[in-house]
Amino acid sequence: MKNIVIAGATSAISQAVAKQMLADEVCFHLVARSRQKLDIVAADLCSRGGAKVHCYQADFNDFSEHTSLVQRITENAPRIDVLFISYGIMHLQTDCETNVDRAIEQVNSNYTSVVSLLVLFSQFMEKQNSGTIAVVSSVAGDRGRKSNYIYGSAKAGLTTYLEGLRYKLYDKGINVLTIKPGFVDTPMTADIKKGFLWATPEKVAEYIIKAIEKKKSVIYTPPFWFIIMTIIKWIPVFIFRKLNI
Ligand SMILES: NC(=O)c1ccc[n+]([C@@H]2O[C@H](COP(=O)([O-])OP(=O)(O)OC[C@H]3O[C@@H](n4cnc5c(N)ncnc54)[C@H](OP(=O)(O)O)[C@@H]3O)[C@@H](O)[C@H]2O)c1
Repeated sequence: MKNIVIAGATSAISQAVAKQMLADEVCFHLVARSRQKLDIVAADLCSRGGAKVHCYQADFNDFSEHTSLVQRITENAPRIDVLFISYGIMHLQTDCETNVDRAIEQVNSNYTSVVSLLVLFSQFMEKQNSGTIAVVSSVAGDRGRKSNYIYGSAKAGLTTYLEGLRYKLYDKGINVLTIKPGFVDTPMTADIKKGFLWATPEKVAEYIIKAIEKKKSVIYTPPFWFIIMTIIKWIPVFIFRKLNI
């Protein structure tokens, strides 16, 4: 039986990924901070048949709980085939610029807590000599923008951490996949006006599943974001500083 751990199981992207991973020989280990939402997600997966489901409640910003959380999961999952991490917050940039607590919460939720979990999970997984660690970062980490640089810097840190972890675990047979979505229509972006560049969580999940199967290193989802971000990265500073993005 395949063990799939999903940290941030109630996120829209995680739910879409889990549904597309459903199979008879799968055991999900779902972790999220809201017990109520977690139970709904677990019940939905169970109602679709096939997979087994274990639930774990955790606020990832409570770092002191990480060791016992990973211990509980690995007691139920003697090997982890896929560790999928997809959670975070996106406070208003203007709030974070003037409020230290908001800024730190933003960085902890999108970066520091993920590093803490990965330090613990990767030590466990490297002994298995196979498996996948797939983590949702963002295109926002590719370049600092005045409208979103606190969230973006956390995602940039995460992307760099994952690149290093990928090289470290390469010889151990563990693939580390960095996922960089563009705009996705989820509760995180509920207040943002939608347009033609937007994707559904289901579409993004399709690309994620394919990338896990093909043992890819980095993906932009949908893939056209690679072209957009390449252009954005090449815009000269004297132009970029005048743009309102
Ligand atoms: N939506 C986009 O346009 C977009 C673009 C690029 C990258 N991403 C990334 O995609 C990932 C998933 O986000 P989403 O778009 O699917 O948004 P979402 O549906 O709003 O999911 C965010 C999830 O993060 C959880 N979360 C936040 N802080 C947490 C904490 N301290 N402990 C435990 N769980 C916590 C939330 O739990 P609660 O439900 O309990 O609040 C929620 O399940 C995030 O890493 C996000 O940065 C999203």
